[in-house]
Amino acid sequence: DLKQLEEIRDLFVSVASDAGAMILSARPTMGGSGSKKNSVDLVTETDKAVEKMVSEKLLSAYPDFAFVGEETYTPGTRITEQPTFIVDPIDGTTNFIHGFPYVCISLGLAVGRVPTVGVVFNPFTGALYTAIRGQGAFLNGTTRLPLNPTPEPLAGLGSALVCVEWGSDRSGNDYRVKTETFKALCAAKEEGGAMVHSLRSLGSAALNLCAVAAGQLDLYWEGGCWAWDVCAGWTILSEAEGLMVDANPGGWETGLEERRYLAVRKGEGQRELIEEFWGCVAGKLEVG
Ligand code: IPD
Repeated sequence: DLKQLEEIRDLFVSVASDAGAMILSARPTMGGSGSKKNSVDLVTETDKAVEKMVSEKLLSAYPDFAFVGEETYTPGTRITEQPTFIVDPIDGTTNFIHGFPYVCISLGLAVGRVPTVGVVFNPFTGALYTAIRGQGAFLNGTTRLPLNPTPEPLAGLGSALVCVEWGSDRSGNDYRVKTETFKALCAAKEEGGAMVHSLRSLGSAALNLCAVAAGQLDLYWEGGCWAWDVCAGWTILSEAEGLMVDANPGGWETGLEERRYLAVRKGEGQRELIEEFWGCVAGKLEVG
């Protein structure tokens, strides 16, 4: 019920504040970090320490809920119908290591596999995004998303600010599809491109989704991110009347385990803009 969801949102906000203090006081060095899948898939001691603190606090309050976190995930684990905390202790680990202040903790709750509560907190800027399904999305507790003024209706792709991410896989089909798609988005019309205003790769999926929810980015496209990267931001996006679909053309429905996403901000003409974007997607992403 709503009261319990509000309690969970408040618990998330308090845990996010504690996590933020840990993140701000940490001094990550390349020596204190390591890599997982390859030399650019990074993790630090702080990621692990924050996840431990967060899982202990959340599960002691809600022992019957499941927990999925980036640092303790075991391959093959599936998200079930059970209420599940889905957590990225540091989204933007590469930024964190480099001191680029686009870093957050992402705390999500899925119920019946549907993103239901989301809190995303960037301790470097103090930006706190919160949402409960059906209750709207907010910046710093009271400012409703999207932020005003929201340009309405959505202009075409040629006037869009678009966010894309490289991810950590730098070879193979998906890397080729990404680079060719980035080119098709950016290139001038005479080169056969859409000539978007510009592309951004900011390094945090959760904050990217919040920026789309806020109306600061028009679209965000990525293949390769995980449920913990998107669960919290997805609730915030939906509650700001943004739309999430598959990164691959034609996929109007997507889910927490699909790993391919296209998010578009609120505005009349969302579906047309998505179709225009899909027209630039240079092949099929296979991840997921
Ligand atoms: C990553 C960031 C990045 C995105 C990757 C994510 P992490 O999360 O969100 O922007 O491109 O797909 O894995 O590793 O910093 O938690």
